[in-house]
Amino acid sequence: MKLQKFVDELPIPNTLSPKKRSSNSSYYEVTMKEFSQKLHRDLGPTRLWGYDGTFPGPTFEVMKNETVFVKWMNDLPNKHFLPVDTTIHGSEISVPEGRSVVHLHGGRTPAHSDGYPEAWFTRNFEQTGPLFEREVYTYPNIERATMLWYHDHTVGITRLNVYAGLAGFYFIRDQNEQSLNLPKGKYEIPLLIVDRSFNPDGSLYYPSKPDQNDAGLPHPSLVPPFDADTILINGKVYPFLEVEPRKYRFRILNASNSRILTLRMESNQPFYQLGTDSGFLETTVRINEFVLLSAERIDVIIDFSQYYGQTIILKNVTKSASPETIDIMQFRISVPLKSIDTSSLPFYLGAFERLQKSMAKRTRYLTLVRVRDQYGRSLNLLDGKMWMDRISERIELNTVEIWRIINIIDDDPHPIHIHLVDFQILDRQPFDVSHFQKTGKLIFTGPPTPPNPYEMGLKDTVATPFGYVTTIIARFGPFTGRYVWHCHMLEHEDYEMMRPFDIF
Ligand code: C2O
Ligand code: CU
Repeated sequence: MKLQKFVDELPIPNTLSPKKRSSNSSYYEVTMKEFSQKLHRDLGPTRLWGYDGTFPGPTFEVMKNETVFVKWMNDLPNKHFLPVDTTIHGSEISVPEGRSVVHLHGGRTPAHSDGYPEAWFTRNFEQTGPLFEREVYTYPNIERATMLWYHDHTVGITRLNVYAGLAGFYFIRDQNEQSLNLPKGKYEIPLLIVDRSFNPDGSLYYPSKPDQNDAGLPHPSLVPPFDADTILINGKVYPFLEVEPRKYRFRILNASNSRILTLRMESNQPFYQLGTDSGFLETTVRINEFVLLSAERIDVIIDFSQYYGQTIILKNVTKSASPETIDIMQFRISVPLKSIDTSSLPFYLGAFERLQKSMAKRTRYLTLVRVRDQYGRSLNLLDGKMWMDRISERIELNTVEIWRIINIIDDDPHPIHIHLVDFQILDRQPFDVSHFQKTGKLIFTGPPTPPNPYEMGLKDTVATPFGYVTTIIARFGPFTGRYVWHCHMLEHEDYEMMRPFDIF
């Protein structure tokens, strides 16, 4: 569907107010609902599922070390409006379609509140999944200032629930951030970028079967990761934003199911990067472009002071992007400067603990592999194991481990996400894939390359390209319990590319 670009203004999601607040805690209630929302001037209202009936959901603004309680409530219909495949694990006919569970992505959350995929619940908690524990979740917010996001994490239908609109921002603030004098208030803008396709009547289109010959496939059938043909930011199709000629801070999230974004300014001006998934870098980095896979975030300053009177498009220069998706949004530097820009662009941003290889108690080798399922569809697995296989990653509380992720799936990089922890990327090193497939032995074919400049900070999701060993290091804590790690391409995550792990 062809929709005219840059005709709608960028919306900013509302900030959520707590139902109760004390000096160091707050209590919120959020209800998941079906609703309709206008996504573009020329589209009728589109049916969606969203938190408090909005897409994106309302934004949380919390302080570091503030205890936040959230009662996530489900008021969704019993039937899904997107195609449910009842042959995949956890999504069988006997399981209700209107189920949901919420994960705070990047949060250092106790296991009982982490949104375990099998801890789902339906409307009014009438039915609950096998590992459901509690109605009110606790978020201790012990991490540094950063932008997290919350989204659905239900076993077998995460891809559909998120595509339907179940996602929102969650900001943690701290004193260090406040002391940096960065652009704030209306000069700090969150961007939740997704791709979606539409039917001619304006309803969301999600494929109900793969492109392959469908003889013998279940109907509907899960599909491989796909690029939809339209970009939305904060719930509007290719919006514009009118700005003053000054510095702005953008908090950017790729919330697409699977799309790879490579962002660049049409003007070729730099981004001044302040942070990664899990907070500030040590020092500001000047970059001209960056890649965000599903769930990755970046924190950047863009300086429009030299561009008054111009329009600049934020471009997606990913090689595989279709022509409709090379434009993201438009900046119009059209608003006269209200007052002198006194915000800073600091160089030093703050220290964080860098883990050294020598601190690791253990190194794990984990291979990403692809097999075929009984219908001939690809089945992507973490270390060759299925979701229900015995737990293989058992980690002692607060120990440091190195994970070496060996990707032999000849396809796009997989965004590998580990719950609970922040990690550092140590390096990526190419190896001889066919030799590895024959012998299980790694022969490196080149030197290790350090992470990209925009990946130098703490991360919770990492791109693991084909033919490389991607090495990360993390301290597993500060909570014990059962968590998950998975590919964040939601079509993979829903279909076995997710594994539980235990911290004890
Ligand atoms: Cu953003 Cu386990 O997910
Ligand atoms: Cu994947």
